[in-house]
Amino acid sequence: MQDTMSTASQRRTFAIISHPDAGKTTLTEKLLLYGGAIHLAGSVKARKAQKHAVSDWMEIEKQRGISVTSSVLQFDYQGYRVNILDTPGHQDFSEDTYRTLMAADSAVMLIDVAKGVEEQTKKLFRVCKQRGIPIFTFVNKLDHFGRNPFDLMEEIEKTLGIRAYPMNWPVGVDGNYKGIYNRRQARVELFDKDSSHGQKMVASTAGSVDDPVFRQLLGEEIHQSLCDDIALLDMAGDQFDPEKVAHGELTPMFFGSAMTNFGVQPFLESFLELAPPPAPRISSAGPIRPDSADFSAFIFKIQANMNPAHRDRIVFMRICSGKFERGMTVYHVQSAKQVRLSQPQQFLAQDRTIVEEAFPGDIIGVFDPGMFGIGDTLCQVGRDFRFQGFPVFPPEQFARVQAKDTMKRKQFLKGMTQITQEGAVQVFRQPDMVESFIIGAVGSLQFDVLQYRLKQEYGVDILMNTLPYGVARWLEGENLNLKALKGLDNGMVVQDIKERPLILISNEWQLNWLRERNPGVEFQATPSDP
Ligand code: G4P
Repeated sequence: MQDTMSTASQRRTFAIISHPDAGKTTLTEKLLLYGGAIHLAGSVKARKAQKHAVSDWMEIEKQRGISVTSSVLQFDYQGYRVNILDTPGHQDFSEDTYRTLMAADSAVMLIDVAKGVEEQTKKLFRVCKQRGIPIFTFVNKLDHFGRNPFDLMEEIEKTLGIRAYPMNWPVGVDGNYKGIYNRRQARVELFDKDSSHGQKMVASTAGSVDDPVFRQLLGEEIHQSLCDDIALLDMAGDQFDPEKVAHGELTPMFFGSAMTNFGVQPFLESFLELAPPPAPRISSAGPIRPDSADFSAFIFKIQANMNPAHRDRIVFMRICSGKFERGMTVYHVQSAKQVRLSQPQQFLAQDRTIVEEAFPGDIIGVFDPGMFGIGDTLCQVGRDFRFQGFPVFPPEQFARVQAKDTMKRKQFLKGMTQITQEGAVQVFRQPDMVESFIIGAVGSLQFDVLQYRLKQEYGVDILMNTLPYGVARWLEGENLNLKALKGLDNGMVVQDIKERPLILISNEWQLNWLRERNPGVEFQATPSDP
């Protein structure tokens, strides 16, 4: 199978960004169903009980027995090799979720028709926008009552600052949509009532909107209202501009229901056609083109093996150029050493053999011999360049940690250093405190993981006190004088590992207050020299 899929141009590597409960797991499952990777979608109900215990991703793996690494899900569809990157949500929401977006070539923003753009979606959207990658929108749960599609377009524009171009439009009345109108093909597609509870693909009737059969099927009133909406969109809406889509300035918008399979296939097909293949990546040696023959990749995720019998770390890398072959020796730029890449077998599911080769756009997991860090570059022996570094993501949860037993200080430091290298938490210090660290993370689950791992792997019990801060800002500016900062009564000044100063404060309101009182100081969400 792999042999016929050996070019970057066939790859579509993307992430789904959404707020918990918008339907990401369900949509992923349905993309697999239509992609032919599974034949029956699982009953969503059966999943619910365990939903909050395990990541949704692992849950799919367990239930379906399909090939899922904890980082990517792959299937072939109509000549494309599709790589869906896992973006952990729920309590798993963390820096990893953001970093995964660094490995994606495009993103699908999934929103609940009744709820619109929610908090986590906004955060993930910002990261995609900064990268300038194309963002596609799927409005989900159209089988339910929801917001007016025009209102949702407006909300996307207002809250996210991106124009939306509806690729299709719901047909019917709110709460009882019967299908979609495909604007590019000027065709209506009405979906049959699903009698399998979404387990199987749905049948549909499609044809020109002018075909009298649709007027009959829909009834005069609904047909007329559809024609009016189409006319309004054509007249008042944006033009479809592939350039703007490519730069993340216009989002193609689709409507559907992942649960009832309504609109899933039209979405998948349009998405695969419009989404970009791997693009050149910026490096210290200029752009690295995906069709370049030399192998190159960067590491975007490090995962400790939670199985106590195997203490290995697995790193996930995104291939940017050339070809990966199992067991190949590559050059690890950050350590200036050659290293043989051996793949972890435990990440491969029952029905797949180990990946023998992989191409630009693909993600692979390999064992970490203890030298890799987030953002590191691997390249062909004989080449030497670095891919552009990863941004630092502003943490939102903070805690003070120290070893319970001061005699264990050495193990504590070792554990903290190794675990923070994996990038799960960021470490800060107060200049005058030597025994304790301040840790910051995007999601608080990381704190529990840190505590658990320090105990399990390093034998260190820690004391952890959560701190009442929600915002971190790096302080920059000419003649920065920390002692002269005004209005910081409820905040804390700390240093990051590169000894850059930052403040921890409660909220954005306090931040604005500080900004007003300290006009010469820049408060950066991420340090300007990452
Ligand atoms: P997530 O991964 O984004 O968190 O969402 P997930 O797919 O788990 O879906 C969250 C809930 O939304 C589930 O319901 C799921 O069945 C429902 N859902 C997903 N897509 C659709 C859709 O197109 N229409 C409707 N009406 N619901 C949808 P739940 O009540 O949490 O679980 P369950 O009782 O269905 O198992």
